[in-house]
Amino acid sequence: MDRRQFITTSTAALIAAGMPTLAFAAGGPIRIIFDTDPGTDDAMGILLALRSPELKIEAITPVAGNVPLEHTLPNALALLELAGRTDIPVAAGASVPLTRTLVTAAYVHGENGLGGAQLPPPKTRPVAETASEIIRRIVRQNPGQITIVAVGPLTNVATALRADPAIAAMVKAIAIMGGSLSGGNVTPAAEFNFYVDPEAARIVFDSGIPLTMVGLDVTRKALFRDEHLKALQAVNTPVCRFAADMMKRTLDRFHEDSQAHRAVAMHDPLTVANLIDPGILTLQDYFVEIETEGELTAGESVGYPGRWRKSAPLAPTPGSIADTTPFKSNAKVAMGVNVDRFFNLLMSRLTAA
Ligand code: BDR
Ligand code: CA
Repeated sequence: MDRRQFITTSTAALIAAGMPTLAFAAGGPIRIIFDTDPGTDDAMGILLALRSPELKIEAITPVAGNVPLEHTLPNALALLELAGRTDIPVAAGASVPLTRTLVTAAYVHGENGLGGAQLPPPKTRPVAETASEIIRRIVRQNPGQITIVAVGPLTNVATALRADPAIAAMVKAIAIMGGSLSGGNVTPAAEFNFYVDPEAARIVFDSGIPLTMVGLDVTRKALFRDEHLKALQAVNTPVCRFAADMMKRTLDRFHEDSQAHRAVAMHDPLTVANLIDPGILTLQDYFVEIETEGELTAGESVGYPGRWRKSAPLAPTPGSIADTTPFKSNAKVAMGVNVDRFFNLLMSRLTAA
């Protein structure tokens, strides 16, 4: 099925099912570059985006994160083949963070990044451009039109910004899964994506691009449970069969010791879902800085809701030190989530014919 057929049939199916096609009300699909490290929840986010006509994916740019690039890149290609969407270019991204040693999360996502679920090895190949090159080219060709959905370490986006700083003024927005104002999930301070590449996250938060930060404050509440698994298992399509297999393995892996309260956070799909239906998340203006120097806190996202001040200087500093600096927001941070509305969207899109 080509893209036009997909939009026509999926839009008709959504309308027939009484589901609003949300972004169309605002005048056409949102054009996105999907930067990702698949990754089980990344895979769910990719499938959600592919099955949502409100979004038009211009490219997918895998990066090393949850597992090395040697898995995230073929995983992205294989997911597109599963969904019948090999028209979307995939460009290989960074295999290591900007300055640090790669730390992965295979303990969460399995050695292959898909929880051990198997897809046929992809027949398609990545395009010749790198992730940084394709981001720069597409943004430059479409100033003000492209939203980057970034749900892995921000290495690719930071690399593009370093190579061509002028594109910062041309990117419409970045929807980021990462960070937290309420503690981390790798260290007490840092969420995984920012922990892996704090220097990249800092470049992005200092870029001036309009940012939405969908962090652990909300994603920890969007929990995929056995009831959702059963809904996927009830639908005999290639996408649902794969998603059910992957999510069953993930739930089993998380809950080897106990069957009670089985649940897995849907970090990345929640970030995608709020683009489709902006009513899912409640956003607040913050000034967010990324900690890159703390021996114990690198990757922490520090959010100021009002006037702010830096840490006290280590050595005596001549002259007076400003008390506080006037507030300026550089990110809208998700602080509330309508969990039912999110799962209604995710499950209806994945299980639609
Ligand atoms: C983030 O880290 C990864 O493990 C997930 O894919 C998500 O993007 C959550 O901290
Ligand atoms: Ca991810």
